[in-house]
Amino acid sequence: MDKLVSLAKRRGFVFQSSEIYGGLGSVWDYGPLGVELKKNIKERWWRSMVHAREDIEGLDAAILMHPKVWEASGHLAGFADPLVDCKQCKNRFRADDPRIKGTPGQPDAQCPVCGTKGSLTAPRQFNLMFKTFMGPVEDQAAVIFLRPETAQGIYVNYLNVLQSSRQKIPFGIAQIGKAFRNEITPGNFTFRTREFEQMEMQFFVKPGTDGEWLERWRAERMQWLVDLGIRPEKLRFHQHTPQELAHYAKEAYDIEYEFPFGWHEFEGVHNRTDFDLARHQQFSGKKLDYLDAGTNERYIPYVIETSAGADRTALVVLCDAYTEEDVEGEKRVVLRFQPSLAPLKAAVFPLVNKDGMPELARRLYDMLRQRFKVFYDDGGSIGRRYRRQDEAGTPFGITVDGQSTQDQTVTVRDRDTLQQVRVASDRLTDYVTDKLAG
Ligand code: GAP
Repeated sequence: MDKLVSLAKRRGFVFQSSEIYGGLGSVWDYGPLGVELKKNIKERWWRSMVHAREDIEGLDAAILMHPKVWEASGHLAGFADPLVDCKQCKNRFRADDPRIKGTPGQPDAQCPVCGTKGSLTAPRQFNLMFKTFMGPVEDQAAVIFLRPETAQGIYVNYLNVLQSSRQKIPFGIAQIGKAFRNEITPGNFTFRTREFEQMEMQFFVKPGTDGEWLERWRAERMQWLVDLGIRPEKLRFHQHTPQELAHYAKEAYDIEYEFPFGWHEFEGVHNRTDFDLARHQQFSGKKLDYLDAGTNERYIPYVIETSAGADRTALVVLCDAYTEEDVEGEKRVVLRFQPSLAPLKAAVFPLVNKDGMPELARRLYDMLRQRFKVFYDDGGSIGRRYRRQDEAGTPFGITVDGQSTQDQTVTVRDRDTLQQVRVASDRLTDYVTDKLAG
């Protein structure tokens, strides 16, 4: 993992937030390549969820919501971790931190940081939602929260979307947006952070059909990940035990990836029943039931949720792409992204900076840039330039050499096979387009 973290910084995928001030705990910034990678993943998700389907609509709800939302959703009362404080060193831990010896609150408990015995408090519930104030007065009446999941923005807009889009049940609403959790044991790079992005879809179904839809969405989501190029043997489902189920869920599956630090969840498929809509109906006093015009039945729909972290999916894509290999006795580090996900689609190199090569290379760069994110590099040996692009995961390296200025052809090097083919420069855009599609 250390190698990946260092590559991510060196190549401009991910930087620590506010690094010049010593960093901010578990908050990360995406650099020029990282932002492209994450954007490609989000666009792919949006296309498959919203554009390619007739039964899902998009939404972009605000992060700040009426505080009653979080009462209704159960997050105010239930979205909490039990924590203990060390009275000696002032550190705070989850009560189930495996490093704690003894029972917190009792004289035998030992602080895992300063080693003091009997200094740990009994566990107290600590809500994970970030609190802030709306308006100029910082009193209890002005408290609002940064949303800990995007889903609630969908539930409170469910009727607006249903009526304005003229959808019928079964149908879904998809949304991509930021969520915030004041995690106590964050870590593992971008895996668990305090600010992150979710790609969530809530699918509203008739009660009684929820089991069948859960299975359909489980299959759909796994296939989407395989289509993204993730190795299937690194993916698996984990069904939640009754103890693991969230307060809103009847049945839930995690999709897990085998990260360098073990198998962990990065997406969930949940049967949330009518919990959320029923609670919002109760707390808002507004009717949220659905009238089935065909059968004249009225019911509160059940919800099947697919909830993916955009950052965790990007981390999965990075981990899965990272490869070290031996090429003619030299170590090569390459990010084998599926070309459509790669931040840069191609890099253009003049072999040497003379004899008309830079002029032709720049013309081709200007041409390709109209369609793709492309990089121009004329610094250092051609071998070094190829290696830099291998580390960035760029699928095609286009070199303008002596022959190019004679016959207007260039070499295109394939990142994975290392094979080079000559392509007519006026066919380059089509060549790259075809390769990206295939
Ligand atoms: N709406 C349901 C929900 O939020 P969740 O399992 O708590 O369910 C869904 O979160 C996904 O959001 C996770 O699988 C993960 O990818 C992402 N996620 C949750 N907490 C995160 C955190 N602290 N840092 C990064 N991603 C997180």
